[in-house]
This record gives sequence, structure tokens and C-alpha cells, in this order.
Amino acid sequence: MEIEVDLVPEHKRKEKPKDPVNLAFGSVYTDHMFIMEYSDEHWHSPRIQPYQSISLDPSALIFHYGQGIFEGMKGYRRGDKVFLFRPRDNFSRLNNSAKRMVMPQVDVDFCVEALKKLVRIDKDWIPQEPGTALYIRPTMIASEPKLGLRPSTEYLFYIILSPVGPYFKEGFNPVKIYVSDKYSRAAKGGVGFAKTLGNYAASLLAGEIAAKAGCSQVMWLDAVEHKYIEEAGTMNLFLLFEDELVTPPLTGTILPGITRDSVIQITRDWGMKVSERMVSIDEVIEGINNGRLKEIFGVGTAAVVAPVGSLLYKGNEYIINGNKTGDTAKRVLTELMGIQCGEIEDTRGWVIQVY
Ligand code: COI
Repeated sequence: MEIEVDLVPEHKRKEKPKDPVNLAFGSVYTDHMFIMEYSDEHWHSPRIQPYQSISLDPSALIFHYGQGIFEGMKGYRRGDKVFLFRPRDNFSRLNNSAKRMVMPQVDVDFCVEALKKLVRIDKDWIPQEPGTALYIRPTMIASEPKLGLRPSTEYLFYIILSPVGPYFKEGFNPVKIYVSDKYSRAAKGGVGFAKTLGNYAASLLAGEIAAKAGCSQVMWLDAVEHKYIEEAGTMNLFLLFEDELVTPPLTGTILPGITRDSVIQITRDWGMKVSERMVSIDEVIEGINNGRLKEIFGVGTAAVVAPVGSLLYKGNEYIINGNKTGDTAKRVLTELMGIQCGEIEDTRGWVIQVY
């Protein structure tokens, strides 16, 4: 498919953020977006156009039954060079989410090419300061006007770009996390592994409770027993017990994070013992109390690596590693960011140079 390009004239381009390090996450968008449409069982009309509103019928299925999925990935710029981190994996994961939500597949190669083209056009928007990046949000929504409950026959797929600073107000300093023993994020057989809109809407109430308690995120426990650690909603979790780095297994209820996978590969290559196993909240509290639990950190595209300084669980606060960033989190962050920005050699074929 040929991608049509309609550029914003130079004099109409928006002003770029002056202080990207302090930019609130996802508050500014670049001049252009990619969009294509699906109808009659095929994708068509791919184009790069000025960033603009989308007009949909009020009965479009996305508004009523939430048939929508998205991805999050990042681009980085250092000098003249622009890099994308594992974009193929993100589009493949989008296709997995699409299968679960009965939505059409996209062609991964085509999407990567479309993204490269879009990023080249808006490359001057990519901030260069440490800790900043271009956040990339591919999105697919059901656009058919219909109130009957069934999969849409029409969809929109678009990619928007947003220059961002660190996700948390704490920067890369330790965050406080609220362990929810009342609400759950996902149950087995549900859609927890898919990056679908409702998972995020369903997390908002517990997020509000966490924020009121002074916490940045919710740590979710399993939906059946409220016992085993799952994820933190925008991050997968890693826990360092003595010399064993543990992360909850992908049993269908948590997001198969691409950063999670990268961290597993990097730390295994360092020779660390990395286990994908269930961890109960009791094991965590015991580990904090007896000193076996050295570190907890969250990882994700938006958050990158966020050390967890304390947990709030059933009204008690448990401090981890003296509320300081641990050595493993620090090392993982340095290595990951170094690879993503092209400053550390990429030996695994993760980085695509766009420019
Ligand atoms: C990402 O890390 O890309 C996410 O999708 C998290 C988002 C909810 C901010």
C-alpha cells in the first residue's frame, strides 16, 4: 500500500516544548499522525496527515462496547541519529491483543515502515535530554456505527507521537505503591494480557484511592485470592530476593511487557538468576521484614525503570532498601536506556535506526 503524505505547511507548525524534561506525560503531540481505515475486510487509505481530531458517529462501537486496543513504544534521538526500540514486537503484541478483541490483524512490516516514515517527518520533535523520548501510541478502534453487540466490521488504526519526559513526578527516584487487596485488574480467561482500553478504565478507581494515600501506582494482586502479585498497571514488576530476580509469570492476567522481556534477557545475560514465578504478598512482606527482599522495581515503556521505595498494604507502610534506588534497578536503567539511545551496543537486534 502506498502511504499518501499531506504535510503541515512550515508556517503552521506548532511550537515545540521548551522544557521536555518537565513535560507532563502525554500532554503535547507532534505535527503529524498516521492513519488508515479498515472496511470490506481490508486495510486501505493509509496516510500521514496533520495531527487532527477524528470524527465518529455517536453510535460507533468503540464508544459503547470498548472494542479498542493500543500500544506504547518509544523513539530516541541522539545528535542526528534517531532510534526505535523493538517496534516489531509492539506491532506483534498489537496483533495478539487484536485476536483477543476480535479485531483485524495489521501487517507488522508495513506498520514499521509507516512509523519510520512518520518519525522521520516529525524527527525535530524528539527531545534529546536524558530521560526524555518520543512516546509512540499506535491505536485501533471499532468505528462502525452499530448498537448491536457484535464485532465491528470497520476500524481505524492510527499512530500519534508525543514528546515526553519521565513518567513519574519522582523522575527515576523511588515511588510509593499502593497494594490493592480489594479491587482486581484481571481474572484468568479475561483480557488482562491484551492491551485493551477497558483494562485501564477498570484500574482508575483503585488508582484514585492510591493517589489519595500518596501513592503513584497500584500493585495488583490476583483476582481469586488477592494473594499473588500481578503487575502495577503501567508496569511489570521485578523483585530481588537475595540474588534471585523474580517476576510474576505470564499466565494470561498480566501484560506481556516488552520492557519486561528486555529486562529478563539483559539480567540473564549478566549471569543473574531470573525466575518467572508466583510471588505472594506474604512472601514480599516477610522478605522486607527479614531483609531477604533487597529491591522492587517496575518496568514499562512509559515508566522505563521505576524503583519502588515503599509499599502501602492494609494501612501499613513497608520501606524497601531504605527508600533508595537499588543497585540492580540502577544498573538495569543505565543498560536499557543506553541500548535504547544507541549509546550501548545493541547485540540483540532490538534497535532500529530511523535516521
Ligand atoms: C506504556 O508504558 O506504554 C503504557 O501503555 C502505560 C500507559 C498506561 C501510560
